[in-house]
Amino acid sequence: FDNEDVVTSSGSMIVVSNRLPFVLQRNKDGKLIRKASAGGLVTAVAPVVVNGNGLWVGWPGIHLEDPLEPIPESDPNDITPTAGLKSDKVVSVRIDPKIFNSYYNGCCNEIFWPLFHSMPDRATFKGEHWRNYVIANKEFARCTMKALKSVVKSDSTSASAGQNIPLIWVHDYHLMLAANWIRQSAEEEGIACKLGFFLHIPFPPWDIFRLFPWSDEILQGMLGCDMVGFHITDYCLNFVDCCQRNLGCRVDRKNLLVEHGGRTVRVRPLPIGIPFDRFVELAEKAPKVLSTTQKIILGVDRLDYTKGLVHRLRAFESLLEKHPEHKENVSLLQIAVPSRTDVKEYQDLKEEMDQLVGRINGRFTTPNWSPIRYIYGAVSQDELAAFYRDSAIGLVTPLRDGMNLVAKEFVACQISTPPGVLIVSPFAGAGETMHEALICNPYEITSAAEIIHRALTMPEDERILRMNYLRRREKLNDVNYWTRSFLSAMGSLATQDDHDDIG
Ligand code: ADP
Ligand code: G6P
Repeated sequence: FDNEDVVTSSGSMIVVSNRLPFVLQRNKDGKLIRKASAGGLVTAVAPVVVNGNGLWVGWPGIHLEDPLEPIPESDPNDITPTAGLKSDKVVSVRIDPKIFNSYYNGCCNEIFWPLFHSMPDRATFKGEHWRNYVIANKEFARCTMKALKSVVKSDSTSASAGQNIPLIWVHDYHLMLAANWIRQSAEEEGIACKLGFFLHIPFPPWDIFRLFPWSDEILQGMLGCDMVGFHITDYCLNFVDCCQRNLGCRVDRKNLLVEHGGRTVRVRPLPIGIPFDRFVELAEKAPKVLSTTQKIILGVDRLDYTKGLVHRLRAFESLLEKHPEHKENVSLLQIAVPSRTDVKEYQDLKEEMDQLVGRINGRFTTPNWSPIRYIYGAVSQDELAAFYRDSAIGLVTPLRDGMNLVAKEFVACQISTPPGVLIVSPFAGAGETMHEALICNPYEITSAAEIIHRALTMPEDERILRMNYLRRREKLNDVNYWTRSFLSAMGSLATQDDHDDIG
């Protein structure tokens, strides 16, 4: 990553997320090793933490029997942004495995994930999971307070003592309660800090949100922050609406402000971007991996029911029925990373996909061609960049998705001329912002097939025009821009600190 682009915060920064930016694993000698994670959040936030001498609080991805076993340093060959994160800058949250399972799989994955994606029928509301969510959030808050105290202590001995207030940035639906407890403890200890929250998934409309029996508590937890960020304005408005209707808060919809407990909380749309230049570089260097003369339609997703994978396969089947001219000339390459495999909904989806791929391939395969190539597994960043670069169509059709980074990574890697075509669902945050993509409602199988046909037959000049606009926007609004916007909205980028009041 390029140091020149690194955004820095004025005060020390503490990032809090369910997962640390790496997972710990044991090698065959039983020694702990770090495995870097290359997600967009890590790439964006890790340099800010490293440069600002900040801390990262999170779960290490493994249950450690010995609570004192130290976190290892990164591998000397690790070139990811996380490599600079020294082990004394990492606070590893250790939670009893049974409680963790109920908090993570039960509450986060079986309740909040489906509910916030407006699929309440897939949610199982259990009081036990909620109670463990509360316990886990308290533990994250306690660890964050410990980190805050250490930061304040070291700041008080540094040259900038007293000038810059530490910034705590809490991420995602796993930790919607933690911020309020951090605020209360910091106030009790007389420690000044700023608190920001970012939700990486959609925030649902009120009539969905209120199905959750403890929805008031969630809002109160989030309102412990000075600012709450979402990808798009619609999610901001949903949140503001819920604050008003659930809690009776005074709100300002135009300026996105919520009054709560004598404070004014700012709500901001901050659409996340990707490390655009890094993907371009990967695409420039990656060797060719697709040895085919057929046009490739590409899908890249975690195997998750929100991604619309079943609908996507059916749309492709419909394309082959309605437009037989594409037979033997076009293949669908679907890469699906295993995800949340302890949860039944995900196990069921895996089975459904296996059967559907088998059925469609069985129906159309010829001696020279299989319509669907299905990879159940993760691929390396190099390979991914090559797939994105060499595919004719990026097919991103979730039923619901907070943003969807795959759509953005696809356009970044489309460096060949003439380029391919992006198809995106209007129900993803990316569908709201990537206007030059072909928009496809995944629920309408036959029109989805027609949109794929249109993409496959689109004239070159139209493809160039659309892709140029898409790439320009993603390059400008990349992940550094996102981090900078967050810090700026928190008053932690420059010295300015804006005060908003509801008049
Ligand atoms: P979500 O956050 O719901 O998983 P996004 O599309 O926003 O969805 O982000 C997914 C991230 O995971 C992207 O950065 C993408 O490159 C990566 N990813 C998805 N599928 C794979 C895969 N099969 N192999 C490697 N990386 C993947
Ligand atoms: C989404 C969520 C992240 C989460 C990721 C992978 O992107 O917004 O918070 O980390 O999915 O899911 P997992 O359950 O494996 O952490």
